[in-house]
Amino acid sequence: MTLQKIKEKKAHIGIIGLGYVGLPLAIEFCKNGFQVTGLDIDQEKIDLLSQGESYIKHISGEKIKHLNKEGKFKGSTNHTLIRHLDCILICVPTPLNKNREPDMSYVISTAQKIAPHIVKNQLIVLESTTFPGTTLEVLIPELEAGSGLKAKKDIFVAYSPEREDPNNKKYSIATTPKVIGADDPKSLELADSIYSFIVNKTVLVSGTKVAEAAKLTENVFRAVNIALVNELKVIYEKMGIDVWEVIEACSTKPFGFMPFYPGPGLGGHCIPIDPFYLTWKAREHGITTRFIELAGEINTLMPDYVIQKIIFALNREGKSLKNSRILLLGLAYKKNVDDTRESVTFKIMELLEEKEAVTDYNDPYIPQIKPTRKYKQFAGKKSVALKKINQYDCVVILTDHTSYDFKTIANQSKIIVDTRNACGNIKSNKVIKA
Ligand SMILES: NC(=O)c1ccc[n+]([C@@H]2O[C@H](COP(=O)([O-])OP(=O)(O)OC[C@H]3O[C@@H](n4cnc5c(N)ncnc54)[C@H](O)[C@@H]3O)[C@@H](O)[C@H]2O)c1
Repeated sequence: MTLQKIKEKKAHIGIIGLGYVGLPLAIEFCKNGFQVTGLDIDQEKIDLLSQGESYIKHISGEKIKHLNKEGKFKGSTNHTLIRHLDCILICVPTPLNKNREPDMSYVISTAQKIAPHIVKNQLIVLESTTFPGTTLEVLIPELEAGSGLKAKKDIFVAYSPEREDPNNKKYSIATTPKVIGADDPKSLELADSIYSFIVNKTVLVSGTKVAEAAKLTENVFRAVNIALVNELKVIYEKMGIDVWEVIEACSTKPFGFMPFYPGPGLGGHCIPIDPFYLTWKAREHGITTRFIELAGEINTLMPDYVIQKIIFALNREGKSLKNSRILLLGLAYKKNVDDTRESVTFKIMELLEEKEAVTDYNDPYIPQIKPTRKYKQFAGKKSVALKKINQYDCVVILTDHTSYDFKTIANQSKIIVDTRNACGNIKSNKVIKA
């Protein structure tokens, strides 16, 4: 692919992995006039897209229909199409395995699937979050071995982390600067020119390792700061001080303070997982990541803290946890999304049921629990209506969706354990913060 082809928008873009990251990226390139082919191994997703339907709540079906109508987008499960593309962006999952170590199987299988079909002069960019060294030590060797082509000479490879914050109304793909790293000037130049069509600002760094480390650093920063406010929450509670009020006061300082908020524990695809990519890689260098481990420890203890608060709240009413009916509000890991990955609600549901409480959940965005690897026992459980909220012994607020009317919820519930300060403005002794 030549720079000229990109500049004339004649470069054909391929996106591998049409999930929370890949699909919005595909839409953005189409919107900017590029021809896009999206590849995924999930036939169901490809079928839905070809019918003009979306499987992500904050992306409307209308958007997909529009792309289909314009003929800009094509979805497929056929990786041989790779040979017709100029630029390939890889957005596949990077989870942790059972031992909480990086699971590189999606990146490796993608590289192995595409390598036999890649051709000279293509640009390949990894977007998946991963440890420093992945592009150089994992991706490039797989691509070279499977294709017989050489990076920096025949094919061009870069790393550019995704900073997608699903459903963030303030920052979109276009207004979020994009970090790009490559280990040779041509790869960097090609990646920069392609991304410059969809973002207002690109940030070029000296190599793929720096770009990989930048993404992990952003997420370690969040994990550590969330752990800090979670620790402060526990300390201040003992002192009779409301941590939310403290944070609100601190936030008025115009410099040197950035608010983070406590909660029931970490959730989502990034913050609970990404820091351990760095921990794992650091071990290879004989270094232990004490700060990251400590933050992980504190955040992991939060569900137990919430359980203690539920027990306390029930005891105050003369009830025990065993056989009590508990309603969990919110299954999504954060407000206003339908994403349940690593949601702490699952963990809290499990802990409650282990203690023989009877649990239900409500989430306006998740009518039924899909099968998950970790919490198989909850598959098929349905979101209950809020009409009978007064029949529950305790209501636990875990996700503060904007659509919840917390005043009514507070009025109708017997007792509430609030992990999000959602009832912060409601003066009621029924509400116990956790
Ligand atoms: N979700 C976020 O908000 C977010 C934000 C920043 C970074 N990230 C990172 O981006 C990457 C992707 O995350 P996501 O949230 O989009 O994941 P996702 O699970 O929503 O989507 C990944 C998609 O890749 C597909 N896939 C897996 N293997 C494939 C293969 N070999 N070929 C083609 N498709 C394949 C899956 O079927 C799935 O549709 C991860 O590394 C994640 O850490 C995610």
